[in-house]
Amino acid sequence: AASTVYQAENAALSQASVATNHTGYTGTGFVDYVNTVGGSIQWTVNAASAGPATLTFRYANGTAADRPMDITVNGASVGSTSFPATANWDTWADASIPVTLNAGANTIRATATTATGGPNVDKLTV
Ligand code: GCU
Ligand code: CA
Repeated sequence: AASTVYQAENAALSQASVATNHTGYTGTGFVDYVNTVGGSIQWTVNAASAGPATLTFRYANGTAADRPMDITVNGASVGSTSFPATANWDTWADASIPVTLNAGANTIRATATTATGGPNVDKLTV
């Protein structure tokens, strides 16, 4: 099926805010997590039918250290996902994970799990 883009700046944010102070983002900005555990971005993703799908997060991490996040689908964790270093904050990469979606609306949440917070997140493609 064709993929759909869900911009991070249009999602529900907790301990994270929309920013534009680096280049290369799509849409009108990206989301910058506060440097703490527990900040999150939550999207509502629509699936035409139930079954396997791939979540692709476009992100930047201009530090040397991974910024893993816990990803949940409809409230259930699908595990920690690695968001390793990119060359700088203007350089974006994709992190992809396989999931199973319900038909119709699905809630996808990406929660920071380290004291440095999450990476900068541009968008989710499903
Ligand atoms: C810098 C950078 C931010 C980033 C932050 C961080 O301040 O400009 O975009 O979010 O570092 O370490 O999280
Ligand atoms: Ca940040």
